[in-house]
Amino acid sequence: MIPATHRQIRLVARPTGYPKGEDFQTVESPVPEPGPGEFLVRVVYLSLDPYMRGRMSDARSYVPPVALGDVMEGGTVGEVMRSNHPGFDVGDVVEGRLGWQEYAVSSGKGVRKIDASMAPISTALGVLGMPGLTAYFGLLEVGQPKAGETVVVSAASGAVGGLVGQIAKLRGCRAVGLAGSDAKVRYITDELGYDAGINYRTVPDLDAALRAACPGGIDVYFDNVGGRITEAVSRHVNMFARFAVCGLISQYNLTEPEHAPRNERFVLVNRVRIQGFLVFDFAARYKEGLAQLAEWLRQGHLRYREDIVDGLDRAPGALTDLLHGRNFGKMLVRVGPEPAAARGPGGAARSVPRGRS
Ligand SMILES: NC(=O)c1ccc[n+]([C@@H]2O[C@H](COP(=O)([O-])OP(=O)(O)OC[C@H]3O[C@@H](n4cnc5c(N)ncnc54)[C@H](OP(=O)(O)O)[C@@H]3O)[C@@H](O)[C@H]2O)c1
Repeated sequence: MIPATHRQIRLVARPTGYPKGEDFQTVESPVPEPGPGEFLVRVVYLSLDPYMRGRMSDARSYVPPVALGDVMEGGTVGEVMRSNHPGFDVGDVVEGRLGWQEYAVSSGKGVRKIDASMAPISTALGVLGMPGLTAYFGLLEVGQPKAGETVVVSAASGAVGGLVGQIAKLRGCRAVGLAGSDAKVRYITDELGYDAGINYRTVPDLDAALRAACPGGIDVYFDNVGGRITEAVSRHVNMFARFAVCGLISQYNLTEPEHAPRNERFVLVNRVRIQGFLVFDFAARYKEGLAQLAEWLRQGHLRYREDIVDGLDRAPGALTDLLHGRNFGKMLVRVGPEPAAARGPGGAARSVPRGRS
């Protein structure tokens, strides 16, 4: 049964600092009718990602911001409910950027079909989606790790970071992760196979901890956070180290830019290469990346964790939690029930109820 109306969450103000509830508005709107060549999707999962903070701001970036009054942008997985499109049938499970809403009409542009028999459908927003591709191409193409090298990863328990360490291990590297709680550090070392982990929030001396965890120095730094952690890592690099700059989450909500890193001398004397990247830079190779990630997942080489909240109305609070580091794994909102055909065995076991670790 398709209802007459559905809920949408729109951006109504540009936040200063961390986003607040008042920056969003929930609106009840008519469920749209698909026109010729279009189809209607019921959203099942909405992905929450740190880049969303950038879309809320009108500071110059690599894409324009969400306009005030528009539905918030976001990746989703959903079920096709009506279709006038020859390539999409009712019952297909799809992934696409359909936004913070319960229903959406699509022309098919940027939407892909998901094989629900291969893995839980939520993985199309995690290990088999944008975060997986970011980890894969960012580490292998930008970081260029070689067997025997030491790879350090910040936000190491997260959607991207959790995978980077595992891929580094598959490449024969030593993997060291930084994370913001003891439970996260235990998770990366005990479950993901990181060789060492550091709780950067409680460690008394971050330099001493990096020195102990990386006795041979640091060859690759996969940077998810920027700021003081990056500055500390830079003091322990080897000659010709590579920094794959993926994200700067420690900076996204600052009202004043932080003064870091200050020690550029490390770049010169060690001939370090610092390269930023966006996952879209590798769009022409997504198929290859997804095939390799799916193969590793099938072989049991990749583990992942999801942090799922129920109900679209919880999306704004959950985004703020993510930006504060209160998520533990890939942050998702379950907007509606999974299609019956997608509820495979073991589906529920992969996610851990919030607040438990
Ligand atoms: N370049 C690209 O194309 C691309 C694509 C996807 C993601 N990214 C970037 O990759 C990074 C990770 O994204 P994700 O989706 O995997 O998120 P995530 O790691 O699942 O969640 C974000 C994590 O960042 C950490 N964090 C938050 N505030 C922090 C602070 N002030 N200092 C240090 N760490 C902080 C928290 O972990 P702790 O508790 O461990 O601190 C939090 O759990 C983000 O910077 C994101 O923007 C970039």
